[in-house]
Amino acid sequence: MPKDTLTVTDNRTGKQYEVPIQEGGETVRAADFRQIKVRDDDFGMMTYDPAFMNTASCRSAISFIDGDKGILRYRGYPIEQLAEKRTFTEVAYLLIFGELPTHDELEAWTQQITLHTMVHENLKKFMDGFNYDAHPMGMFLSTIGALSTFYPEAKDIGDINNRHLQMLRLIGKVPTIAAYAYRHSMGLPYVGPNNDLGYAANFLQMMFRMTEAPYKPHPALVRALDVLFTLHADHEQNCSTNAMRAIGSSQVDPYSALAGAAAALYGPLHGGANEAVLVMLREIGDISHVPDFIKKVKGGDGRLMGFGHRVYKSYDPRARIIKQTADLVFEVTGRNPLTDIALELERIALEDEYFVSRKLYPNVDFYSGLIYQAMGFPLDMFPVLFAIPRTAGWLAQWDEMLRDDDQKIARPRQIYIGAGRRDYVPQAARG
Ligand code: ACO
Repeated sequence: MPKDTLTVTDNRTGKQYEVPIQEGGETVRAADFRQIKVRDDDFGMMTYDPAFMNTASCRSAISFIDGDKGILRYRGYPIEQLAEKRTFTEVAYLLIFGELPTHDELEAWTQQITLHTMVHENLKKFMDGFNYDAHPMGMFLSTIGALSTFYPEAKDIGDINNRHLQMLRLIGKVPTIAAYAYRHSMGLPYVGPNNDLGYAANFLQMMFRMTEAPYKPHPALVRALDVLFTLHADHEQNCSTNAMRAIGSSQVDPYSALAGAAAALYGPLHGGANEAVLVMLREIGDISHVPDFIKKVKGGDGRLMGFGHRVYKSYDPRARIIKQTADLVFEVTGRNPLTDIALELERIALEDEYFVSRKLYPNVDFYSGLIYQAMGFPLDMFPVLFAIPRTAGWLAQWDEMLRDDDQKIARPRQIYIGAGRRDYVPQAARG
């Protein structure tokens, strides 16, 4: 009998089946269960896994997470090293091409992205059509979708060079569209890209430049934003990445797929948690109210937002880096007054049996909102700030999916639980 197999006995028929164990002894293929049948004309055994709690939908070489040990790596490199030593643009290259760029490759890559930061004038008119109080994330994701009409050749997703061009366009244009969404919601004139500045600095000037010329963002804030971009660039098969892959599997153009991924990120359970942290900190209001708040949470009344994670059952490595970044930002902006409440919450929670026994630690969102707020970003820009760097991850995952011969159009099965066959009843007979 082969060694690496799972033997399944179907007690209904007494038959035994051998299911190969693959991928380092951790995985069986769901399709291998289809051989299990009671009658020859049965469909075969399916697996039921709502929310993909225990299903790998792909093989991927991009992000690695060990949730118990608090490890995140992009293409093998620890997130701590990338955040400390590299820029976001370089990390985007790494995610997409799989290796760190040489000096020349990085120069060419950075220049190509810079050449694609401008948007068509008609796209600005499109954005003008949004209501004055439209949510920036709604504007962002709709405008990304609209880009597909400006670049119809993007449909040719089988051509690697064409895919590469669209990826450059998207990485180049997302900060511009994000900043324009903010400026529109503030009733401010759009500020075009300045190609003398780096990726994060240019975004800050498109956001915040008023009448100064030239606008010089503080280097510490530029660095902090670049680090935050790196930390948010990819996180394996999360909700929005899964959306990117599922939509992209229909072979639609990347703008349409990315608009869908951004829509998934818009949801409060995904890209909205850092906003929820700030709302919670404001509600607590004062450091003296922290013990009462913790008591309430332990009593089942609400959650400690920014704590806990589906995958990390240890300190989220991104949260540790963000906490250090916060100190650097506050040296420039002044301390966010909500920080003391956050620190006290963390101190108590990390000592408290309720949180310790459930392995609840601060996640990436616990401190990021405090930084963004101190830098002058309004709360409704938080998901947009997440979407800018995640664009690189979405595109890397989309490209990997298109190269993977195992992949087909994403099409899960269902377990039908509705009515059996019945005959149509005319309206008059229904009463
Ligand atoms: N505060 C208090 N208790 C919590 C928290 C929390 N933040 N998170 C989980 N718990 C408790 C649950 O009540 C449950 O307790 P019980 O076993 O006594 O019933 C236990 O811990 C396990 O909780 P689950 O909901 O099963 O954990 P799950 O892995 O499904 O949830 C999640 C993960 C959604 C992130 C959760 O921890 C949470 O709601 N956190 C707050 C919201 C948040 O910060 N989200 C951002 C996540 S990071 C990101 O998406 C970028």
